[in-house]
Amino acid sequence: MSAAFFRTSLRRAAAPRSFPRASPFRSSILRYSTQESTSTPPPPPPKSNTALFIGLGAVVAAGGVAYYAFSDDGTAVKSGLQAAKVKANFVPTKDDYQKVYNKIAEILDVDDYDDGSYGPVLLRLAWHASGTYDKDSKTGGSNYATMRFEPESLHGANAGLHVARELMEKIKAEFPWISYGDLWTLAGVCAVQEMAGPKIPWRPGRIDGVATDATPDGRLPDATQGADHLRNIFYRMGFNDQEIVALSGAHALGRCHPDRSGFEGPWTFAPITLTNDYFKLLFDEKWVWRKWNGPKQLQDKKTGTLMMLPTDYVLVQDKSFKKYAKAYADDQDLFFKDFSNVVSRLFELGVPTQQFVTPEPWIMKNSDE
Ligand code: HEM
Repeated sequence: MSAAFFRTSLRRAAAPRSFPRASPFRSSILRYSTQESTSTPPPPPPKSNTALFIGLGAVVAAGGVAYYAFSDDGTAVKSGLQAAKVKANFVPTKDDYQKVYNKIAEILDVDDYDDGSYGPVLLRLAWHASGTYDKDSKTGGSNYATMRFEPESLHGANAGLHVARELMEKIKAEFPWISYGDLWTLAGVCAVQEMAGPKIPWRPGRIDGVATDATPDGRLPDATQGADHLRNIFYRMGFNDQEIVALSGAHALGRCHPDRSGFEGPWTFAPITLTNDYFKLLFDEKWVWRKWNGPKQLQDKKTGTLMMLPTDYVLVQDKSFKKYAKAYADDQDLFFKDFSNVVSRLFELGVPTQQFVTPEPWIMKNSDE
């Protein structure tokens, strides 16, 4: 990828024509500041595109606040590249992002955490960062990485994700030019691919927002509820029944933690390898309500060591969900294909297309390729 290509994309990112403006969150964009910015307010918007590029150039040339660019209608947006590297005239290439991927892959496996990998909690971070999207107001999603801020970081659904965010700070320290949204979603991609899952097409372009971009509580699914709730939540993101089921297949990975969600246990016997076992187990095992002093969850009758959430079990109770769950139980390749497509889309929720640095998502190499 040539440097010229990225410069072109930067320009595209700097001059969005259809940047969503209607939401209450948008007003905050006018108040953007960066780690490097001072309290000086941004200069008034130039009137034409030419002025726009000159305006952006002037900011960069001044070596100061590189984040401000202005569209014709005066909306200030931050550029897709991070200020520090713009200042240093650094334009990251696919290779640079591959280096970040490789570094994440390097620190995934550990002996003293859960089942031996940070992969599941990193995937959950990427999903919770993206799954706040609301297609009607065009707010939420992975663009601004607002889970860094309170109160979003303290929302009940995000309990325990500080582990993943803190881990990602180590990567961020080494690659300060990457935005948090790109870093977290790339970590999700890396987690899936390194845990034997399919390739997840991905591309960079997310930008860091501010605390006022944070989304209200209640946008992520509540595991104690049923089919209607799942549909309300996922339709709001723009997904359909088949996609809800494919996405739920992520629960082949990881486990529930009593000190995070209150639920307990893994869904499968191989929680750090992505397979279609989650679907197989849903059909093949007999599931009974666990008798315990905790939230309502199911356990497998045979061993009592596996669990299903009420929202997992609904996939074999609801007629429409069940059809897809059965198809995935019968065919892992089909599950992988659909999972790859839907996760790739999930991670792009809330990111205006013109912000992406490439029209076609990339396929990142696995660490052993
Ligand atoms: C369908 C609605 C969903 C509900 C109600 C739900 C709920 C939960 C809950 C309660 C936990 C346990 C958290 C903990 O105690 O640590 C969890 C973990 C997890 N979820 Fe979901 N989830 C849903 C969808 C998804 C999706 C779409 C993905 C990814 C594409 C995903 C990926 C994960 C992963 C990987 C874990 C394990 C995290 C770990 O081991 O630390 N979930 N989920």
